[in-house]
Amino acid sequence: MDEHKQRIYSVLYFLKKSRGIGFKNDLLYKSKELPGDMDRFKKLTVGHIVLMGRKNWDSIPPKFRPFADRINVVITRNPELFKNEPDVYAFSNVFRAIAWLTLVFPDKHIAVIGGGEIYKLLFPYCDMIYATEISGDKEADVFVEIPENFFLAEEYEFTEGPTGVKFNFADYVNKGQLKVPVI
Ligand SMILES: NC(=O)c1ccc[n+]([C@@H]2O[C@H](COP(=O)([O-])OP(=O)(O)OC[C@H]3O[C@@H](n4cnc5c(N)ncnc54)[C@H](OP(=O)(O)O)[C@@H]3O)[C@@H](O)[C@H]2O)c1
Repeated sequence: MDEHKQRIYSVLYFLKKSRGIGFKNDLLYKSKELPGDMDRFKKLTVGHIVLMGRKNWDSIPPKFRPFADRINVVITRNPELFKNEPDVYAFSNVFRAIAWLTLVFPDKHIAVIGGGEIYKLLFPYCDMIYATEISGDKEADVFVEIPENFFLAEEYEFTEGPTGVKFNFADYVNKGQLKVPVI
């Protein structure tokens, strides 16, 4: 893949069985329960653009947001709510956001970082999904579906975290990536 071409990809973890990703507008696990997951997230996002839904933004503890060393972009129908929020770009239209990001930051990749509504909207436009797949069950109220066009290109070995959570990293490639509409 051309290193200088802007890519759009998703990064997330989900429960392998139910595809749950969140509960009560919070994550299902703390990062220390998934050793290596945060390193992978950083590797895929630092120096690039993180694009997220407003509920995901709300769920991030204020001390961690905006994510340092990344361009932070929030999708909301009320972008004016972000006008006093330093270092955050808010857009009401996701395709307009991407068109602007491509124009202004052509060398930065766009990492779609959730939550459920934003993944659903943008998976078809992503070239890859970098997933952390978690074995076992946990109550969730937000779910994702990996679209049929994605195939499992690489599955990494299982790890067990300090609290007994078993998981593996997995890379899905989109063989039918849609072009972002020009608007
Ligand atoms: N497991 C993971 O890797 C992971 C990653 C991220 C988040 N999460 C979890 O996911 C959950 C949040 O996901 P969610 O699906 O509830 O919300 P979300 O996708 O984070 O945000 C939804 C919000 O985005 C805005 N939005 C969505 N579609 C839009 C459109 N077409 N045009 C304009 N704005 C639009 C709206 O904001 P307004 O209401 O402001 O208009 C909407 O309420 C939380 O539990 C979070 O912890 C999990």
